Amino acid sequence: MADKLQWGILGTGAIATTFAKALLHSRTGSLAAVASRSPQTAAAFGTEFLHTGAICRCGSYEELLAKPEVQAVYIATPHPTHARLAIAAARAGKHILCEKPLAMNAHEAQAIVAAAQQHKVFLMEAFMYRCHPVVHRLVQLLQQKVIGEVRAIQANFGFQSGGNYHSRLLNRGLGGGGILDVGCYTMSLARLVAGTAAGEPFANPTAVHASGYVGPSGVDEWTFADVQFNGGIAAALGCGVSCEINNHVHIFGSEGRIEIPWLWIPQPTGNRIILHRRNEKPREEVIKAPADVYTLEADIVAAAVSAGGQQAAAPAMSWADTLGNMLALDQWRACLGVTYAADEVPLCG
Ligand SMILES: NC(=O)c1ccc[n+]([C@@H]2O[C@H](COP(=O)([O-])OP(=O)(O)OC[C@H]3O[C@@H](n4cnc5c(N)ncnc54)[C@H](OP(=O)(O)O)[C@@H]3O)[C@@H](O)[C@H]2O)c1
Repeated sequence: MADKLQWGILGTGAIATTFAKALLHSRTGSLAAVASRSPQTAAAFGTEFLHTGAICRCGSYEELLAKPEVQAVYIATPHPTHARLAIAAARAGKHILCEKPLAMNAHEAQAIVAAAQQHKVFLMEAFMYRCHPVVHRLVQLLQQKVIGEVRAIQANFGFQSGGNYHSRLLNRGLGGGGILDVGCYTMSLARLVAGTAAGEPFANPTAVHASGYVGPSGVDEWTFADVQFNGGIAAALGCGVSCEINNHVHIFGSEGRIEIPWLWIPQPTGNRIILHRRNEKPREEVIKAPADVYTLEADIVAAAVSAGGQQAAAPAMSWADTLGNMLALDQWRACLGVTYAADEVPLCG
């Protein structure tokens, strides 16, 4: 068996390419195979940065899952395919890093977790921002109570995707909509912050209310949620795929506030945390990641696998954290009446 964790990637789109490039710099993992629904697409994948013949190119996802040399898979396909592929990967004995959201709803997510548990494989939802040291630093600052008691959270993530209703972002059949694509980040952050304030790795909301716009394809194009946690912590979460929203996080406490611009996306010059303490001058910290954040994510998986673990340590996503997030997203969608086929059809065997 090779020293490095041998990865297979399912899908050949935007994030599959990003992850394949990141693996080139991983100390712990290397790319063994890539799979597409089409042999031609698999053959063309990453030819500009992968040596010819360096990896196995599979013309179906099933072919990759049957390869004994593949130890872990990265699921980089649209959200509605995650549950089927993750469960198939677990049954094939592959460790799993699955793109966010882990599934279309909490019910599907629960089925994936059950499959990972049953087949004794590692499973993590790929919220790459949780792997960046800026999140470790944020947790540390909150634990040190530098802004006193956390009172409220404001987190936004959105962009104008361009109005193409066939695209993954707006097509209901492909799991389009802002809540599942980017609202999932804001909810996961609010749950992390509220949890840290309570001395836990995460907290689940006690109430979720929301308003927003559901467009002609039946998916949420922009929405704001009003989320309540124990201890009176309130969160205002904004997201959208047809709306220019500032992508910032603010955390308000009894003694000050923390501002993090662009928490979600690793910045080449480092991610900034701006600390405003009552009656003090603002202080800025710049937190640089030691490597590409997707490389760090792959390394977190490899470290857990080599230690025999099935879950990542916080602030990376544990199973309970993912399940709580999926449930909160279900509640957010319910406020707007956004549903998908996965909500109607029970997941088969
Ligand atoms: N963590 C991050 O930073 C990040 C960023 C972007 C996206 N994501 C997540 O990654 C997933 C993929 O997003 P993406 O932007 O990479 O999407 P994308 O560019 O559209 O690529 C998706 C790939 O999935 C495969 N696929 C399988 N079934 C498909 C179907 N029915 N329709 C279309 N493609 C299908 C296709 O590969 P083949 O044709 O080769 O099979 C396609 O290239 C999503 O769940 C998204 O939330 C995460």
